[in-house]
Amino acid sequence: MAKKEIMNACHLYPMPIVLVGAKHEGRVNFMPAAFCGILNINPPIVALGLSKMHFTSRGMEENGVFSINLPSVEMVEATDYCGVVSGHKVDKSGLFKVFYGKLETAPMIEECRLNMECKLVQKVALGVDTAYIGEIVASYCEDKYMDGKMPDMAKLNPLIFSMGDNTYWSIGKNVGKAWSIGKGYK
Ligand SMILES: Cc1cc2nc3c(=O)[nH]c(=O)nc-3n(C[C@H](O)[C@H](O)[C@H](O)COP(=O)(O)O)c2cc1C
Repeated sequence: MAKKEIMNACHLYPMPIVLVGAKHEGRVNFMPAAFCGILNINPPIVALGLSKMHFTSRGMEENGVFSINLPSVEMVEATDYCGVVSGHKVDKSGLFKVFYGKLETAPMIEECRLNMECKLVQKVALGVDTAYIGEIVASYCEDKYMDGKMPDMAKLNPLIFSMGDNTYWSIGKNVGKAWSIGKGYK
C-alpha cells in the first residue's frame, strides 16, 4: 500500500459554500461559511462551525435567528468579497436585495436561488469555532429552480469549495440514482 499518513485535518472534499445572514446592531450582514452541514431531517436541523467573533455570529446571538443562502456559481465574486471583509469594518448591507420570511428578523438574499431561515436552537463551544445549531423554519425557491417539490441541484448551480488549495468549483455530472444504483452490487 502506497498510502502514508498525511497532515491531520477535516479533509472533506468538496464542501458547499453558504452565505449566512444575520442582523447585528440593526445592520444586515452576510458571510460565507464552508463549515455547514445537515444534522437532522425532521425537524430539519443544520449546524454551522463559526468563529464567535464574526459580525454575523454576533447577530445570530443577538436575535436568535439566521439565514442560510445558497450562492450559485455566478455569485462567486460577491460571495468571496463577503469573506474577505468583515461587518465590523465594512457595511455589507447594500450588496444584495434582502427579503424576510416568517421569522421577520433573518435577512435572506434574493439573488441566491435557495434560502432557508433558521431559529438558533443550540450553541456548542468547540475550540476555535462554535457549532451554531439551527432549526430551519421555512425554505424559499423560485419554481424555475425546482424539480417537482424539491430544488433541482443542476438548476441551483451551487458554488462549492475545496479547502487546502482554497478554490471554488462548480458541480460535475450526475453519476447514478441513490438507494438504487447499488442494489445489484456483489
Ligand atoms: C470560502 C470561505 C469560507 C469560509 N468559511 C468559514 C466558516 O466555515 N466558518 C467561519 O467561521 N468563517 C469562515 N470564513 C470566514 C468568514 O466568512 C470571514 O471572516 C468574514 O469576513 C466574516 O464576516 P463578518 O465579520 O462580516 O461576519 C470563510 C471565508 C471564505 C472566503
